[in-house]
Amino acid sequence: MKQDMILILDLGSEENPTIAREIRALGVYSEIYPHDISADALAALPGVKGIILNGGPNRVVDGVEIDASPAVYASGYPILCVDHKGEPGWPKEDAARRDTLSRFIFDTCKADANWNMENFIADQVELIRRQVGDRKVLLALSGGVDSSVVAALLIRAIGKQLTCVHVNHGLLRKGEPEQVVDVFRNQMDANLIYVDAVDRFLNKLAGVAEPEQKRKIIGAEFIRVFEEEARKLDDMEFLAQGTIYPDIIESGTKTVKAVKSHHNVGGLPDDLQFELVEPLKMLFKDEVRACGTALGLPDTMVYRQPFPGPGLGVRCLGAITRDRLEAVRESDAILREEFSKAGLEGKVWQYFTVVPDFKSVGVRDNARTYEWPVILRAVNTVDAMTAAVEEVPFSLLQRITQRITTEVQGISRVLYDLTPKPTGTIEWE
Ligand code: XMP
Repeated sequence: MKQDMILILDLGSEENPTIAREIRALGVYSEIYPHDISADALAALPGVKGIILNGGPNRVVDGVEIDASPAVYASGYPILCVDHKGEPGWPKEDAARRDTLSRFIFDTCKADANWNMENFIADQVELIRRQVGDRKVLLALSGGVDSSVVAALLIRAIGKQLTCVHVNHGLLRKGEPEQVVDVFRNQMDANLIYVDAVDRFLNKLAGVAEPEQKRKIIGAEFIRVFEEEARKLDDMEFLAQGTIYPDIIESGTKTVKAVKSHHNVGGLPDDLQFELVEPLKMLFKDEVRACGTALGLPDTMVYRQPFPGPGLGVRCLGAITRDRLEAVRESDAILREEFSKAGLEGKVWQYFTVVPDFKSVGVRDNARTYEWPVILRAVNTVDAMTAAVEEVPFSLLQRITQRITTEVQGISRVLYDLTPKPTGTIEWE
């Protein structure tokens, strides 16, 4: 790596990722390391210009207040101690904090603002080529932001030494499998194996109504299909993964509480022995998107809203049936189209439709009907732990209702979910 770096040593502050993000926004690369980093590990890090020690509420571990190792204080690098007693020591206001950071980084550490996407991509291409040589890499390409950007980066670095496997489990949004094939096979000339596993998944899910059971079946079946495809291929020595920096941070260190364990393709059997390639593991989500854009991926792929792993499977409530699944897919496409036309795309954090497994009485062409309702959900959140409902204009709700009840087979009513999280979760299952 050619760029300068500011290290943040984790003394238990939950704001470290924010600080790292702010330093990168100033154009200087930054990474977070455990507070007890050894002298050797510190010396091996390239481009270090300065160190930030940031304490916080988790600084006391098992009754003992932790501190950075003596190697850190003896390193000779400029050190910014925000507070030694574990009290929050940063200026509270964003602007004042940025000013403190900026003065430390540029005036004290004399760092150069040389962190940008072109340099990142050039570095990664070189690192991937060095790691992989002339060997082959396998990637499960869901079409989500992270796996798509990994694919584009690996195509740039090693071209056809990469094989992408896209499993269509029938639970993707309208147009998504087609877009994966179009972008990666047709436009980027990638080695792409498209697996139509729709019947297989829907047969496995038939009659299963319990949400967690549905999730388990979708996850397990995905691994089985991917494993079968991997076994058909010769000489795959590497597995690429769309691991990103928050996955690593959230896996926890001594001082950062583990939020969730990091598992991206989790559960692949041990006898599929792969070395991992994880070129995005130091990027935050917005940087992953910027990387995708710089690599030529379309905005519709790079700026996709979050989508649950089990896909539309948890929005077709209860036991999944093909007709209700199609109703979810079609109504979701209408909702997305209308939000886009109304300028809400990219402004509302997540929006989707849900089809429950009960019917209501309606009337169409002077005849009684007995059909399903569609529930609309649109929420805003920062971390998905709590969420507020979007105040969608009434006229837009009416237009969406009109379109769904006329264009989607089997739907006679539309409802808007007004429930924040808590008490409702974002998804219905
Ligand atoms: P909830 O419904 O728990 O959702 O409020 C919070 C966020 O997580 C997404 N979600 C999932 N993502 N696998 C995933 O990868 C899942 O099983 C899953 N369930 C919910 C949800 O879409 C929302 O963004």
